[in-house]
Amino acid sequence: MQVALREIGNCIIRRCDLSDLIPTMEINLKTLPEHYSDYFYESLLAELPEAFLVAEVEKKLVGYIMCKIEYGFSNFKKLGFVKKGHVVSVAVLPEHRRKGIGEGLVQEAIAGVKLKKSDELYLEVRCSNSEAVKLYEKLGFITKQRLKAYYRDGEDAYLMAIEFAY
Ligand code: ACO
Ligand code: ZN
Repeated sequence: MQVALREIGNCIIRRCDLSDLIPTMEINLKTLPEHYSDYFYESLLAELPEAFLVAEVEKKLVGYIMCKIEYGFSNFKKLGFVKKGHVVSVAVLPEHRRKGIGEGLVQEAIAGVKLKKSDELYLEVRCSNSEAVKLYEKLGFITKQRLKAYYRDGEDAYLMAIEFAY
C-alpha cells in the first residue's frame, strides 16, 4: 500500500506498486502508440519509484506517469553536464481527462525527481499533441528543440524541459 501524494476530487495520486504494472500497461495500450516491454516497466519502477506514479479513482487506475534519471548534457547550460529526469510516458484515460489529473501526475513527478536532486526534467512530445504541450507549458516546461522524425511513423517531436533551482 502506498500513501496518497495528492487528491484531486475522488482521484488519488500515489506511487506505483508492482501489482499496478498490468493496469498501467493497459492504460498505455489504450492511450498511446508507444509501447514498452514488461521488463522496461519493472526496471523503471525499480530504478525511480519516486517518479513512477499512478492515479486511482474508486480503486481503479485511470492514469500513470513514469520517468527515469539520466546523466548528460544540459538542455539549459552551455556545456553543462547534469542529472536529468526524463518523463518516459504519461497518460490519463479519456473519460477522466480535463479534471487536473494529468497536471497532478506531472507535478508529483517533478517533486519525485527533485527528491533525487535532478537539475532538470525533460520529455519528448508529438508536435501535433497540443493538449500535452499545453499541459507542459502550464507547468513551466520550455520547448528546446524540434526532433525530426522522432517517432516510428515519422512525426517530429518537441523536446521540452524544465530547470530546477534548489
Ligand atoms: N485542450 C486544451 N488544453 C488541454 C487539454 C485539451 N483537451 N487537455 C489538457 N490541457 C492542458 C490545459 O492547459 C490544462 O489546464 P486547464 O485545465 O487549467 O486549462 C492542463 O493541460 C492540465 O489538464 P489536465 O486536466 O490536468 O490534463 P488531463 O488529465 O486531461 O491529461 C494528458 C492530459 C495526459 C495529456 C491527456 O490528454 C492524455 O492522456 N493524452 C493521451 C496520452 C498523451 O498524449 N500523453 C502525453 C504524451 S508525451 C509523453 O508521454 C512524455
Ligand atoms: Zn523520451
